[in-house]
Amino acid sequence: MNLQEKIVLLAKRRGFFWQAYEIYGGVGGFYVLGPLGVRIRDKIVELWRKIFVKENGFIEIESPVIAPYVVFEASGHVASFKDPMAECLQCKRKYRADHLLKEAGIDVPESTPLDEIKEMLNEKVKCPECKSMRWNVRPFLTMFETKIGPYTENRGFLRPETAQGMFVEFKRLYEISRGKLPLGIAQIGKGFRNEISPRQAMVRLREFNMMEVELFMNPEEGCPYLDRVKDVKLPLLTEELVAKGVKEPVVVTAREAAERRLVKHPWLAYFLALSKIFLNKLGVPDDKQRFKAKLEGERAHYSAQTFDHEVYLEGYGWVEVAGHAYRTDYDLSSHMAKSGEDLTVSIPLDKPIKKVVEKVELIVDKVKIEYPDKWKEILKNRSKIKIKDGKAFLDDEELKEGTYEIKKQEVVEIVRKIVPHVVEPSFGVERLILTALTYAYRVKEDRVVLSLPREIAPLEVAVFPLVTKDGLPEKALEIKVMLDKAGFYTVYDESGSIGRRYARVDEIGVPFAVTVDYQTLKDESVTVRDRDTWEQERVKVDELVEYLRRKFS
Ligand code: GLY
Repeated sequence: MNLQEKIVLLAKRRGFFWQAYEIYGGVGGFYVLGPLGVRIRDKIVELWRKIFVKENGFIEIESPVIAPYVVFEASGHVASFKDPMAECLQCKRKYRADHLLKEAGIDVPESTPLDEIKEMLNEKVKCPECKSMRWNVRPFLTMFETKIGPYTENRGFLRPETAQGMFVEFKRLYEISRGKLPLGIAQIGKGFRNEISPRQAMVRLREFNMMEVELFMNPEEGCPYLDRVKDVKLPLLTEELVAKGVKEPVVVTAREAAERRLVKHPWLAYFLALSKIFLNKLGVPDDKQRFKAKLEGERAHYSAQTFDHEVYLEGYGWVEVAGHAYRTDYDLSSHMAKSGEDLTVSIPLDKPIKKVVEKVELIVDKVKIEYPDKWKEILKNRSKIKIKDGKAFLDDEELKEGTYEIKKQEVVEIVRKIVPHVVEPSFGVERLILTALTYAYRVKEDRVVLSLPREIAPLEVAVFPLVTKDGLPEKALEIKVMLDKAGFYTVYDESGSIGRRYARVDEIGVPFAVTVDYQTLKDESVTVRDRDTWEQERVKVDELVEYLRRKFS
């Protein structure tokens, strides 16, 4: 059994996660987070929020998971969010075409044309089900579609990324934040992808938790926080290295990455550094992390540069846990064009600029005469009148001569309008849970010990009475309540030998176990056992909360 198979069994047996709808045979790509899964998810989310949101002064929102069709039409997802689907012409089973090829030892870039993929499949790959070699290949839209309300024409999608919520609401959020760039907007929530044939548990899910930041900025300005992480070392597989097939990353500091323009914007270097620190805190050492650039054609349609943050997971190999993309002004510009809303922001100019501009002045009496039916509408929309070749147009219709005059006016501009650019770090939470479990899994004296970093342990303190008599359980429960009130996540257990109880909590990663014994009744002290060293210390009950707080701080 490989490590991932062991983790899946442990996760199911102890309540971290398991495949959903088991009593109906299970449905691929849908998982339940059990009691321990929810706790570790929340802790990972909180750690991310601290590093990516709070410490940067960013703001966080929650927008709907369902969006009308137009949002994802504007964002380009309707046209581009597709995977190549291979259908066996004999048994009709469907597979992700590039995955079939990969399993047959043929690595194809994501940009490979579908007819080439089809040709390769028909030449080299047998259907895993019926062994036929007759394939058809077509694109498959991997967004879940739905209807909004009772009208079939009201099509909508479950969001494949939380990001669009930040773009669509940008205008209001910018105003709420008093019109300042850079502006970081974060969102944590469910994303949905209708994967063709998800196989790897918790790696490829159809419904999963995402944590994303959209950082809106003026592309001509740097990242004011880069100095905070300037010496963090980044193992980069740049586009150049990936294209050459080089497997060993070049290691540069975040500052070097920005200065040598290995990243297209310094904010990208900053987020790569935070990402590395975050994964270190989840238990992943430096040499098991790398940032792999996506080649043009492999990148998402909105991205000018993408680095996948990959971690090495025994049993799986290199797995992407985050994508860091330079989305430029792509999304805001697309929504601006589709919605007609002005999503630009005004940037103060260093020096005011004098300009002569042309302005249309309506001659109201003439407008009334020439347009007896719609003069009111014309007056109302006067700000939308445009000048082209010395003539005035409203909604592409030329206004009649004599109804207006074009005047020249000198104006002084003190601001410039720009569409902000965006850098985005985007994480999948379930993959991070799997990563943390993979790096925590140890076997000591034939027993599993989950050495999770204390900060993300789902339960923090176990409390046991040594035996179930002589008032020991009552005292232990009293201590458990005291620790609960102090804010610790605790577990109480009195069944089985003390050795078995230690083993049970080691296996789910509880960092400390407090045991109440006969000496407790004499001198109000307990033993505190460390999960990783198995060493015990005697601590006074009235000093226990402080003692544990120090251990967790
Ligand atoms: N928002 C990034 C992604 O969808 O992968």
